[in-house]
Amino acid sequence: MIILGIETSCDETSIAVLKDGKEVLSNNISSQIDIHKEYGGVVPEIASRQHIKNIATILEESLEQAKITMDDVDYVAVTYAPGLIGALLVGISFAKGLAYGHNLPLIPVHHIKGHIYGNFIEHEIELPCIALVVSGGHTNIVHIDKKHKFEILGSTLDDAIGESYDKVARVMGIGYPGGPVVDKLYYKGDKMALKIPEPKVQGYDFSFSGIKTSVINAVNKAKMKGIEFKPEDLSASFQNRVVDILCKKTLKAVKDKGVKQIVIAGGVAANSLLRSELSKRAEEIGVKVSYPSMSLCTDNAAMIAAAAYYKLKFNEENIFADLTLNGKATLDITKD
Ligand code: KG4
Ligand code: ZN
Repeated sequence: MIILGIETSCDETSIAVLKDGKEVLSNNISSQIDIHKEYGGVVPEIASRQHIKNIATILEESLEQAKITMDDVDYVAVTYAPGLIGALLVGISFAKGLAYGHNLPLIPVHHIKGHIYGNFIEHEIELPCIALVVSGGHTNIVHIDKKHKFEILGSTLDDAIGESYDKVARVMGIGYPGGPVVDKLYYKGDKMALKIPEPKVQGYDFSFSGIKTSVINAVNKAKMKGIEFKPEDLSASFQNRVVDILCKKTLKAVKDKGVKQIVIAGGVAANSLLRSELSKRAEEIGVKVSYPSMSLCTDNAAMIAAAAYYKLKFNEENIFADLTLNGKATLDITKD
C-alpha cells in the first residue's frame, strides 16, 4: 500500500512516499528556517508563499526518488490541523487537486498524531503506551490504548516547551531555532549556575512560563549591571530543569497507567538530554523508550503518511475527507 503524505503546517514543505506503513521510499523536506531566521521566528505570510513556490517541485522529486508515478499511489494524506492556517491551506489545496485529478481517496491527518506515528515507522511500539508530545506549539502527555484511542492526560498551562526553548535562545541572542543551540550549549555550561525553581503544577500538567522568565530575568539583570552573562550556563540551567520535569511527569503517567512503553514525539524529541535521561530513568523501572531518528523528529511528511496508515487500520469512521476539507489552526487531538 502506497501513501503519499503532504505536510505544510509550519515552515517545512514536505512530501513523502510511504510503503506499507514502514518503508520510507522518499521523505523530501524543504526547510524555510534560513528565511525566517532573519525575523527571529516564523512569519506566516512568508511561510505560505514559500510553500506555494516549492510544493510542486517537492512532489516531483519525491516521486522520482521513490521511483514511482502518481499511478502507483493508493492514498493521499495531508496535515489539516493544527498549524498556521495559510500554510495548512497550501498543502490541503494541493492534496485535494492530486486526489481529485488522480481519483484517489484523501485522508486528513492531525499534525501531532503525525509526530506520534513517526515512531511507528522505525520501531515496534507496544500498546498501550504513553506519548510525550514536545514540539514548538504543543506539550502533552497522551495515553494511547491498544485500539489506538488517544486520551490527553496532561498539557502545558502556558508556553509550549519548544516555544520556551526558542524564547530563551532569542533573549540570549544565540540563534533560531533555539532548541538545537541550547541543547549543544548545555554540555559546556554549569547547570547549577542559575537556580530555577520547579513550578508547582499538579498531576500531568506543565508550566514553562516561570522557568522561561527566570532565564529572561537573569539576562536582563546582567545587561542592566553591565556584566556579561554566560549563555552556556543559562542554557545548562534551563535544560537541566525542563528535562527533569518532562521526565518526572512522563514517568508518573507510566507508573499510574501501568504501561511498559514510552514514545517521544515532536521537534523537541531531537533533544539529546531528553532522549538519554528519559531512557535511563525508564530503563531503571523496566520501561522501553522509543524516539524517531533525527529526520523524522522535526516536521516531515513521512510521519503524516504513517498516521494515515494507522487511521486506515484502526479508525472505524472519519477516515476520509471530501473536497470540502478545510484547515484548522487549532484542534484537540481527541477531536480528530
Ligand atoms: O515539531 P516541530 O518541528 O514543529 C512544531 O510542530 O512545532 O518542533 C519545532 C521545535 C522548535 O521549537 C525547536 O527549537 C525544537 O523543536 N527543537 C529542539 C531541538 N531540535 C528542535 N528543542 C530542543 N532540543 C533540540 N535538539
Ligand atoms: Zn511539528
